Amino acid sequence: MNTPSSIISAIPRHLHTQPDHPLTITRQLIESRFPGYKTHNELFPVVSVHQNFDSLGFPPDHIGRSRTDTYYLNKDTVLRTHTSAHQADTFRANESEGYLISADVYRRDAIDRSHYPVFHQMEGARTWDRRTAEKEGKTLAQLVWDDVAKIPKHNIEVADPNPTIHPERNPLQATHSAEEVEAIAAHLKRSLEDVVVAIFNAAKTASDAGSPSADADEPLKVRWVEAYFPFTSPSWELEVFWQGDWLEVLGSGIVQQSILSNAGVPDRLGWAFGLGLERIAMLLYSIPDIRLFWSTDTRFLSQFSAVAPIKRFVPFSKYPACFKDVSFWLRTTSSAAGGAGHRVSPSGISASGSASASASATVSAIPGQAFHENDVMEIAREVCGEVVEDVRLVDEFVHPKTGRKSLCYRVNYRSLERTLTNEEANELHERFRQQLVDKLGVELR
Ligand code: DAH
Repeated sequence: MNTPSSIISAIPRHLHTQPDHPLTITRQLIESRFPGYKTHNELFPVVSVHQNFDSLGFPPDHIGRSRTDTYYLNKDTVLRTHTSAHQADTFRANESEGYLISADVYRRDAIDRSHYPVFHQMEGARTWDRRTAEKEGKTLAQLVWDDVAKIPKHNIEVADPNPTIHPERNPLQATHSAEEVEAIAAHLKRSLEDVVVAIFNAAKTASDAGSPSADADEPLKVRWVEAYFPFTSPSWELEVFWQGDWLEVLGSGIVQQSILSNAGVPDRLGWAFGLGLERIAMLLYSIPDIRLFWSTDTRFLSQFSAVAPIKRFVPFSKYPACFKDVSFWLRTTSSAAGGAGHRVSPSGISASGSASASASATVSAIPGQAFHENDVMEIAREVCGEVVEDVRLVDEFVHPKTGRKSLCYRVNYRSLERTLTNEEANELHERFRQQLVDKLGVELR
């Protein structure tokens, strides 16, 4: 068990079903682009390790399974780290050809304005049955192409430079034909491009009276890039050019046939995708800090309406930042992986929103237990709650003689709802420092 009570207490919040909440509105906007898909919005977040990892083909040593990245309730039970945890069960229920699952997901991670240990994802999937095709005297590929023709057309610029199938980088599965996968990939890509067009058209019309969005006149540009997920092949990510950068919006691919076979539907083939709802809501509404989604302040909540057109969020105030540093020595042990040459990710930020491996510091702080930056993040959350905006590694140093390693983290204390006094920040910082000693066994400098 490594799940703090502050995380458990987020479970009943159900932000993605609160009326007029920006996550609800974002979810409904996406759902509206998938007519006929069955929606699931109430699936409970406690799942088995089997559901979250094994059923999806995660290897036994995958970093995502580690206690530094995932909240365990006991050795066989976790808080789901992604909505894909429900794929196998939903395929098994076989209630509809397409489905959408929206839910809260939980990950131990860095602290900054776009990462919070609880966030929301939407999973989607669409499958077709080879026997249906046969009954209609068609190939499965023909059946799928008929459905591709029903997706609304768009005129945005899409870059898709890679072949659908690449023998090494993005292989075809043994039981699939290239014709089938070309058709399913086309349906996947066209469906998701349609979602992106809907979102960005809505974002374009979102403007406060005085200052329309800077990107209002920029034509929308999207691109497909090759990806890897244990539960799809071939796989892709969709990226959108937004405010000068390529932004990863979703992961997707052709569902591993073993998942469908194990779910008792071996004749079905199809695609799946997963996306982060906060990331999309943040750009739709120009919401600057992920903590705001958890706000119960009417100055936040009153700005969103499911029936009115989407308007940019107007920050109600910018309270002052308060930076405080903490430096400490890690306790070195003979098993320490660190020392000169081992580098901690300088930004201290691991990639979230994907099941990929996170950057980690692995010098031992406690004998027999590796130091991990996510432990520092969790202590900051536990002590400071919503009042911590950002925690980043600003310095690291290895003593040339002893080989001992020292880290310096900078904490930004800032409430979204009020001005913190310096005394209050000092008090929090002192508690944070003490907990680092008590829980991680570090030596303060
Ligand atoms: N579960 C993945 C994540 O959290 C996202 C994802 C990728 C879902 C590809 C999918 C998929 O269904 O096909 O990063």
